[in-house]
Amino acid sequence: MMADIPVLDETVGFIDAPVDPLLNLFEEIERMKREKNAVLLAHYYQEPDIQDIADYIGDSLGLARQAAATDADLIVFAGVHFMAETAKILNPERKVLLPDLNAGCSLADSCPAPELAAFKERHPDHLVVSYINCTVGVKALSDIICTSSNAAHIVSSIPKEKPILFAPDRNLGRHLANETGRDMVLWEGTCIVHETFSERKLLRLKARHPEALVLAHPECEEAVLRHADHIGSTTSMLRFARESARPAFIVATEEGILHQMRKDCPDKTFVPAPPESGCSCSRCPHMRLNTIEKLYLCLRFEEPEIHMEETLRRAALRPIERMLEMSEGVGT
Ligand code: 13P
Ligand code: SF4
Repeated sequence: MMADIPVLDETVGFIDAPVDPLLNLFEEIERMKREKNAVLLAHYYQEPDIQDIADYIGDSLGLARQAAATDADLIVFAGVHFMAETAKILNPERKVLLPDLNAGCSLADSCPAPELAAFKERHPDHLVVSYINCTVGVKALSDIICTSSNAAHIVSSIPKEKPILFAPDRNLGRHLANETGRDMVLWEGTCIVHETFSERKLLRLKARHPEALVLAHPECEEAVLRHADHIGSTTSMLRFARESARPAFIVATEEGILHQMRKDCPDKTFVPAPPESGCSCSRCPHMRLNTIEKLYLCLRFEEPEIHMEETLRRAALRPIERMLEMSEGVGT
């Protein structure tokens, strides 16, 4: 009956309807995925329940590749808005759903498209390389998109004489400049989760766990990165932990990934790196807006859906396709 279907209230950003507490949401989600030919793509920063029910779980590059290759009728994206938006840019004819439309990203928020356009005008000779953590408007202004998996490869592939403007993450940009020897103009954006890890507390933790190696995401501040034994994307951190002979790791990224690390390597110890503030968790408030209940409702009512203007989508597709072509064969 139509009257039973809740209408998405755009100001809320998710379907706000009661969920029967007796329902087995895992079974219901599996059933609807089959019936609707839906694929559930999830990032490692999602809550463990969502990770466990996903068809594919990965880093931003892996997720973009999956979105580009899927033949599902419906893409349900358990991640943040820019990730679902990227899936929509690649799949204009498919429905792309995000359980909570408010799941944003501080990096994307730091770089409004009109401000980047003005910045570009001040650097007219520069090639714009943007980290995938940005809006469709910023992607449309970019020459190439990159992720933490392929950024060094992409930056190194650009001819040396071509100046580069890198947006929006200044920490990843600085790390790339060190790694590739390229002097880039940086946008001053940061991730609210990764910028809070404390060097002081990390050193104390290292002293308590002398057997542990430090794994860090390149969105962390330089003061933290300088103590890392491995710097890379979420997937590369997982791989490093799996392949290393060490029994313990201190992990400087969103703590959702510890769920996969512990599943992958049940005999190893994973300790989250501590943030500077009193709070001892390092959860992304945006990623964690998605819940298993919202996921169930989203799949059931096929809302909230990602929409975008077609001219903008086409402009944003070009630098994403360029990234996928340039990083073919590059592992995540
Ligand atoms: P990756 O999983 O691509 O390393 O990105 C981390 C991140 O912050 C996503 O928002
Ligand atoms: Fe954005 Fe940081 Fe959250 Fe990733 S962890 S989605 S970069 S705010």
